[in-house]
Amino acid sequence: MNNIVLIGFMGCGKTSVGVRLSYCLKKTMVDTDKEIERQRKLTIAGIFDQYGEQAFREMETECLKRLLLKKQDGIISVGGGLPVKHENRQLLKKLGTVFYLRVSAPTVCKRLADDNTRPLLQGEEPEKKVYELLKKRAPVYEAAADVIIDVDNKSLDEIVDEIIINLEGKHKNEAACD
Ligand code: S3P
Repeated sequence: MNNIVLIGFMGCGKTSVGVRLSYCLKKTMVDTDKEIERQRKLTIAGIFDQYGEQAFREMETECLKRLLLKKQDGIISVGGGLPVKHENRQLLKKLGTVFYLRVSAPTVCKRLADDNTRPLLQGEEPEKKVYELLKKRAPVYEAAADVIIDVDNKSLDEIVDEIIINLEGKHKNEAACD
C-alpha cells in the first residue's frame, strides 16, 4: 500500500505533521492513538489504567491490521511505542513508506514538560525516562524507517516540505523505471 506512515518518539510531532500533510496532499489521516481511543471510548491514560500496557499494545496491532484491510491510501501516524513490536514493524512496511521523525531527548523534555497524557512519562524523574526510553528505541525506529527526517529546530512547514520533496523524488524514480 501507499500510505505515508509517521513514526517517532512521543513529542516528535507525528500528529501535527500528519494533520498538515493531510491538508497539503488532500489525503485522509488516521492516528492510531485516536482510533483506539474512539473505539474504546477511553483516553490512552484510561486504557493504560483499566487494561494495562500489554493490552494497549495488542490494541495497536489490531488497529494496524484493520488499516491494512481498509486498503485506503492516506497518512497514518502511530503511537511512539508501536514500532517496538516486530510484528508491528512488518505491518507498517506493508502499509506504506515509513518516515521516522527523529527528535532529540532535550527537545522532547522541553515539549512535554507539562504533559500529563502520556502514562509512560508520569511519576518520578520523567526526563530520565525520556532519555532511557529514547536511547532504547532509537535503533528500533531506525530499523523500521524508510526515510529519516530530523525534526529538531525545524518548523512544521519545513518538515512537511521535506517529506513531500522526498515523496516526489520517490515518484520520479518510480517513473524513471517505467
Ligand atoms: C506511547 C506513546 C503515545 C501513546 C502511549 C504510549 C509510547 O503516543 O501511544 O502513551 O509508548 O511511546 P504518542 O507518541 O503519540 O505520544
